[in-house]
Amino acid sequence: MLLEGLSKLEYRGYDSAGIAVRDGEKDVRVVKARGRLSVLEEKTDGGRTVPGNCGIGHTRWATHGEPSENNAHPHVSEDSSVVAVHNGIIENYQELKEKLLRNGYTFYSDTDTEVAVKLIDYYYKKYKVGPIDAIAKCMVRMRGSYALAVMFRDYPGEIYAARKESPMILGLGDGENFIASDVPAILKHTRRVIYVGNLEMARITPEKAEIIDLNGDVIEKEVTEITWDAEAAEKGGFEHFMMKEIYEEPRAIEDTLHSAIKEGTIDISGTGLTEEEMKSFSSVWIVGCGSAYHVGMVAQYVLEDLAKIPVRVELASEFRYRQPLLAKDALVVIISQSGETADSLAALREAKRQGVKVLGIVNVVGSAIAREADYVFYTLAGPEIAVATTKAYSAQLIGCDLLAVALGRARGVLEEEKIKELLSDLLSLPGKVERIIEDKERIQWFANKFANINDVFFLGRGLDYAACMEGSLKMKEISYIHSEAYAAGELKHGTISLVEKGTMIIGVATQKRIFEKTISNMVEVKTRGAYLCGITSAGNYSMEDTADFVLYVPKSDEHFSATLTVIPLQLLAYYVAVNRGIDVDKPRNLAKSVTVE
Ligand code: AGP
Repeated sequence: MLLEGLSKLEYRGYDSAGIAVRDGEKDVRVVKARGRLSVLEEKTDGGRTVPGNCGIGHTRWATHGEPSENNAHPHVSEDSSVVAVHNGIIENYQELKEKLLRNGYTFYSDTDTEVAVKLIDYYYKKYKVGPIDAIAKCMVRMRGSYALAVMFRDYPGEIYAARKESPMILGLGDGENFIASDVPAILKHTRRVIYVGNLEMARITPEKAEIIDLNGDVIEKEVTEITWDAEAAEKGGFEHFMMKEIYEEPRAIEDTLHSAIKEGTIDISGTGLTEEEMKSFSSVWIVGCGSAYHVGMVAQYVLEDLAKIPVRVELASEFRYRQPLLAKDALVVIISQSGETADSLAALREAKRQGVKVLGIVNVVGSAIAREADYVFYTLAGPEIAVATTKAYSAQLIGCDLLAVALGRARGVLEEEKIKELLSDLLSLPGKVERIIEDKERIQWFANKFANINDVFFLGRGLDYAACMEGSLKMKEISYIHSEAYAAGELKHGTISLVEKGTMIIGVATQKRIFEKTISNMVEVKTRGAYLCGITSAGNYSMEDTADFVLYVPKSDEHFSATLTVIPLQLLAYYVAVNRGIDVDKPRNLAKSVTVE
């Protein structure tokens, strides 16, 4: 039952897995394995070597600690009195780990989850309280996100749970009950679920399922009948993973921000970079492929303006063969969601061959680029299933913004006051992205105008031009419409000859200093018959005088506007592709990770 349930959750993480099972009064048996779930299935002979009637399981997407058997869940306390699995990120796990070390605890893994388990064990033993009180005391201390399922050796036949931010449901069966991160895991056994609320706990036995609040009081919750089929359930009720992942962008941005903003200031020491090293870099090269390269194009403006450091952006497939003239004290930044892209890995090796330091901005813990880079900044976007990247792109952008602020401080060009302003603006982005997504129907309506067009131009200047590159790639790769991102000032040097009546043009203008310039370029194409959609920040209402249709994004510090303008661009491409009946999650000819040249 556990292995089958986990197989329905593999899309949420698949670098290692484990189960903990007990049969009546007997002790809990834990079996874990690195790699896909199939390795664990083989190791337990399909579960037959660990019979039992009560258990918890986990398939992992590493955030703290490499994928390994040791770091795989379930995690256990020293005497196995507490066993648990966890989905989420305990932000203050280091401070809690130090507290436990001072109280005689030792640790066998690098995970935040093991800290949570031993904190439960600590309160359970020190205060001699029951499971619910021990867990409640932990919830008060832990910051971050968690969906925890916990078994206590002294409480056979019972499973406890606690939730904050990370999703969790209870499944109500007949003579059996379930706890899971998501509906697909239990759909085979029941369609009756209770959604566990934030800061709520649960206690289940075969006969009973209770939701308990932080005061220890049982609370009544509504039972929901799931009507989705299994496949729709995997997408959380969304039609495609891509839309599900667009909805996850605020969370990916927030988790990535919180990994490097501590006590209100910037702290990227987790990458391994020291202030001294950051101060020593004379220039930055940013290297990536596809959308990762487009992140670099945006980051160039942010880094040069905030950190006052020269930046050069290169396609990995070009960089690896051009014998780049790297200064010894340069920093090469390799951006890669998968951390396995062949060209990007080759670019990393070329930089290291030249003795230049490499920082990887990567979404997959333990991936090749993460392992070979000198420093690693992990984006916390979680697994991205759709081939067209959305939340990973946004998290990478945030990673570069944070790097720019950290470099600016180390190089003495950003004062604390300015840093606080920038970080506060960054922390406002998740809410602003949410607001744009909420207004998606307007974009869906506009997408219907693309039904029979064959070309789209995306125009912008500066950082908006870089954002257009990503908008153009999204449109090409999932709707198969030819499109091109163009520096608005370049139009008159040739391309404007392509503009005729009805040509679709998307103009992006958020940068105040060059706003009027971009508008005048948009007027040029408008007078030649183009249909013009403008994307700009709220307040720039003069765009209505020029564009046929305007999409507004909330105001933000201009350095970070691409995090906002990319959302309508992603949604536009998505709706056009859906209108065209294309398989959005698996566009033709493309793979999620290009591990060959
Ligand atoms: C983006 O939508 C594409 N799927 C593709 O361009 C991707 O960004 C590129 O292949 C780089 O992949 P990586 O980030 O895993 O290195």
